[in-house]
Amino acid sequence: MKEVPLSNRPHLVPAVVKEVVFDQEAIAKRIGELAAEISHSYRDLRPVLVVILKGAFVFACDLIRQMKVELTLDFIAKSPYLASRGGEVKIIKDLEQDISGRHVLLLEDIVDTGLTLNYLVRVLSSREPASLAICSLLDRPALRLADIPLRYVGFNVTDEFLIGYGLDYRDRYRNLPYIATMKIEGA
Ligand code: IMP
Ligand code: MG
Repeated sequence: MKEVPLSNRPHLVPAVVKEVVFDQEAIAKRIGELAAEISHSYRDLRPVLVVILKGAFVFACDLIRQMKVELTLDFIAKSPYLASRGGEVKIIKDLEQDISGRHVLLLEDIVDTGLTLNYLVRVLSSREPASLAICSLLDRPALRLADIPLRYVGFNVTDEFLIGYGLDYRDRYRNLPYIATMKIEGA
């Protein structure tokens, strides 16, 4: 299907969008590659894909439909990371499945400081999965505080704040079909 230029669809470009960094076509292509790689590595392992809510749900939705292996799906949600709370993160929605002995692949939208995943990896590792790996659509290594190994990464990004394709600003703009930088409000 041919992409219609965004200039022809002003209703899809909210005033906050500065620049589209990854359009639908680029995202779909990269997700196809990731799905092929993951399907190959996890053939015969019947992995459980753990989607980190809310941001990763759009990515997960497209990724799993390109995967060629039997898998199960589960969801986990943590409270937002707040420096003001000393960086404390809490699980606000836990998994439904027992992951002990299972091959777990965590799906994240973006790894920034790495503190969120550092916490989740610690919690999930204690449940003794057979393996635990991370797949993040976006990686922002420049701002990393916790050293966490990312097995699969879609794209590397700079330190500019991003919205769209699951990524939010104050819970908005997750539904944009592309990933974009944002104009700073009031600027
Ligand atoms: P970390 O704990 O600093 O790695 O933060 C990761 C979480 O912060 C992700 O799950 C996102 O929800 C959020 N986040 C980090 N950078 C961005 C961004 O540029 N746009 C939207 N959300 C972001
Ligand atoms: Mg978020």
